[in-house]
Amino acid sequence: MAVKVVRDPVDIPENFDKLQQVIDEYKGKPGSLIPIMQKAQDIFGYLPLKVQQYIADGLNVPLQNIYGISTFYSQFNLEPKGKHSIGLCMGTACYVRGAQLVLDKIQEQLGISMGETTEDKMFTLVATRCLGCCGLAPVMMIDDNVYGRLTPDQIPEILKKYQ
Ligand code: FES
Repeated sequence: MAVKVVRDPVDIPENFDKLQQVIDEYKGKPGSLIPIMQKAQDIFGYLPLKVQQYIADGLNVPLQNIYGISTFYSQFNLEPKGKHSIGLCMGTACYVRGAQLVLDKIQEQLGISMGETTEDKMFTLVATRCLGCCGLAPVMMIDDNVYGRLTPDQIPEILKKYQ
């Protein structure tokens, strides 16, 4: 599968211009730190240290405050995430019915392991616990879509829909 090289949003100067506008808009308003961080994550897709430092400088708050919030709340990502999230259920029913073979196929197709993001930032692959539809095992979710009774040979076709 061809892998497109995509620029990291942190390397795009206009993104920092947008962040500056957000900081200017919120600066001085009480309780503005988390909304600014949320908007920063919308702009960059994640909150790397460089972005956190920019916010810290812009608001004149210690970097450690921002870092503390970003690690405390699960809504914030410190690592880039793919445009699409693949959650493969590794619960017992799914595992017994072949989730490992499905996982092997996804990994082979995308060239990533569990927990990783493709280089083109299209997919992040994560293991999930039971998704509550064991009758459809093995099951995976891509974004909000559920795919059940999976076999490895279905994987290329399914992934193609998201590329
Ligand atoms: S174990 Fe996979 S949906 Fe329940």
